[in-house]
This record gives sequence, C-alpha cells and structure tokens, in this order.
Amino acid sequence: MGKNVLVIGRGAREHAIIWKLSQSDGIGRILAAPGNAGMAELAECFDISVNDTERLIELAKEQEIDLTIVGPEVPLMAGIVDAFEAQGLKIFGPRKNAAILEGSKVFSKNLMKKYGIPSADFASFTDVEEAKAFVRERRAPIVVKVDGLAAGKGVVVAQDEETALSALENMLVDKAFGSAGLEVVVEECLEGEEVSVFALCDGKNVVPLVAAQDHKRIFDGDQGPNTGGMGAYSSPGFYTPEIHQRVMEEILQPIVKAMASEGRPYKGVLFLGLMLTAKGPQVLEFNVRWGDPETQVVLPMLDSDFLAMTEAVADGTLNNIPMAFESGVCVCVVMAAEGYPGEYETGRVITGLNDVGPDTMVFHGGTRRIGSQVVTDGGRVLSVVCKGETIAQAIDKVYGEIHHIDFAGAHYRKDIGARMLKL
Ligand code: AMP
Ligand code: GLY
Repeated sequence: MGKNVLVIGRGAREHAIIWKLSQSDGIGRILAAPGNAGMAELAECFDISVNDTERLIELAKEQEIDLTIVGPEVPLMAGIVDAFEAQGLKIFGPRKNAAILEGSKVFSKNLMKKYGIPSADFASFTDVEEAKAFVRERRAPIVVKVDGLAAGKGVVVAQDEETALSALENMLVDKAFGSAGLEVVVEECLEGEEVSVFALCDGKNVVPLVAAQDHKRIFDGDQGPNTGGMGAYSSPGFYTPEIHQRVMEEILQPIVKAMASEGRPYKGVLFLGLMLTAKGPQVLEFNVRWGDPETQVVLPMLDSDFLAMTEAVADGTLNNIPMAFESGVCVCVVMAAEGYPGEYETGRVITGLNDVGPDTMVFHGGTRRIGSQVVTDGGRVLSVVCKGETIAQAIDKVYGEIHHIDFAGAHYRKDIGARMLKL
C-alpha cells in the first residue's frame, strides 16, 4: 500500500509539491489543507487553516497520514513540527528551535558571525539613537531590517541616509512592525547577482538542489514595488560549479554543523538567499521552507523520487538517497490579480486553463472552484511553467502558452529570465 501524505498550504509552491509527489512510486493518497482548485485535481482538500495545529493533527491521525509536509513559515515558527512529533507523527520541516533561523535575523546574523559564515557586516539595535548613530558612521547605501517575520516588507535597502533614518524611526519608534520590529539589524549593502539556493538537510547531511533566480519586483526591468515573486528560472548560468563548491564549503556544510552544535539540528529544506559578490557568495537571509516561485522551477527539474527524499529528511537517512536533476532550464511566469501587490479583488473567472500544451505546467497560487468554474482567490493567482534545452527556448515556450489563460485584470511580467540572456 502507498504512503498517505498531507501537504499544508494553499499556494503554487504547495501545488508543485503535490504534483511532484503524485509521480512517486510509493505514493498513496495525497491530502491538502486547505489546498486550492488546482491541488484539488491531485489531492483531497480539507478546509483547515495552516495555523490550526490541533485540527491538522486530528486530520493526520484520522486519515492515517504517513508523512506531513509543511509549506509556509508561520506554522513552522509556531512549532507545528514539535507538536506533530510529540504525537508520534512524521513531518517534514524544522522544529521551532531551528525555524528561528528565518524567524529572527538577529539570531541568524549572530550565528553566522560566531561560525565565520560569510554575510554582510552588521550590528543590531533596540535603541533608535544608537542605530541612527551607526547609520551616520557607516553611511549609505546601507540596509535596515526588522528582526522578526514581516511578510517580505521588513527590509529597507537605503540608497541615502535619510531613507535609513526614517526606516529606523518607523520600526523602532512608530513600531510599524509590532513585536517583529522591536529589534533591528543594520548591515552593509552588498552588490552582486542574487540567487536562491535550496538544500535538503536531515540534521547532519546536506544535499543541494538546483539553484534559481527570483524576480521580486512587480514590473518589467525590476521596477516598482516588491512582491512575493513574479517569476523565476532555474538554473542560472552564473551559478557556476566553482561558486556552488564555495557555497557548499563556506555556507551550507558550516551552517548545518553550527545548528547541530547549538542543539538546534536542522531538518527540512534550507533556502539560502545569496548575493554573489566580488568577494564570493554571502548570505542575505535564510528561509526555513521552500521558496515561491522558486519551487515551481526546481521540482520540475528533479529526476528522483520526491517522496523518498522527503521521508529521508524526516528519518535522518538522506545520505542513502540518490538524487538527480534534468539538464536544461525551467522558467515560471506568475499571473497576478489586478492591483497586486496592493489591494485586489477575488472571484474573477479564469478561462483557458485547459488550452495550454501538454508539457506546460500550471500551478495554482490563489484559486477556488465555484461550480464548474475556477475563480481567482489571491494576489499571485497562477504559476505557468515550461522547460527548454536553453533559457531562450524555455522563455519562448512559456510566453507562447501563457496568453491562452486569462481573467479580468490579469497581469504578468514579460521579461522573466531575460536577465540571464544578457549575463
Ligand atoms: P531579505 O528578506 O533579507 O532577503 O531581504 C530582501 C531583499 O533585500 C533581498 O532579496 C535583497 O534584494 C535585498 N537585501 C537584503 N539584504 C541586503 C544587503 N545586505 N545588501 C543588499 N541588498 C540586500
Ligand atoms: N521567492 C522568495 C520567497 O519565497 O521568499
């Protein structure tokens, strides 16, 4: 009998996870909580919030779930892994005392300093005057970050001193981020190409996956406000085997060792946000979960059994798992709702979902079904994904397919991957 797996989340990242799981030999039933209209084609969806740990545990017991996979960071930081394990339930993700790697920038910066892991020079502050004095001494450009989780809004890359000082006021005096912003990190502004690197960790072993590059701004040419991510591609050509070797030796292996020696063994997927600087790769941030939209371009390239990999992470047996990736490139373009990343309406009817070619993947981000129709139900509505031998092929393919799909007010970037063509 196959293994029953529960996936917690409701975005395109979790849809991609479910799609990949569905190809595993040993898979039984797939459940999602709460899921969306796309996931419902591959999984049984249960309308339970990602933060309702008690009901999720009940569901896992009732449905005889063999493995649970957690998508978003908030339940991880709240200790969902600890709660499942206390009930003898197998779960993929870091415990609360390891999820702090994403949950507190002050913690992660101090840890990197202690273990010599390359990252921007920094100091942390709770006092606004001391923080301002540090900014004046170090001068712009400079980066100001709130300590805690801020849904991607807690980082200000200040090109001038004025911007940095007003960010500090906003965080420490006006308390715009509540308790997440009572302490701040002020750090050196790094320059280079940004890359997202994922690795599976089982507490001791580290196995890297292909790298990806996200496109965070809403408009073409990296203009306009930041979003959750408007598209991605894997693997960037500039992430060479030499750079990868340095990332393994200088960052990934040391961080997993460091977490173990701190009594916080890291299990799950570790997502490094890196800046490839002239001095070498440096850590911008750690995330303790899969990235969105990066997952949508990493998992389609995986040529190994995803269920076996995730189980090995939970079991601490990652050293025994073969892992292979396809060659070529994968590109994801996100279709967003009118108004996103600001306010947007939901409930707009989506057409053309079945009109794309058979090798185009459409992962649902924010959708729900009403009768026979699928309607929008979020800001990042769909991730449209295509593979190619080259980046140019993958780009042509994805833009040749995406226009089949439509909903009122839909918009997407026209230049995903174009940066790599130029590099
Ligand atoms: P973070 O959430 O820490 O990754 O920051 C969000 C974004 O801010 C990153 O993706 C970078 O584009 C930018 N950023 C963060 N830290 C720095 C830094 N030290 N130097 C330059 N850019 C940064
Ligand atoms: N794409 C960036 C993230 O998932 O945080």
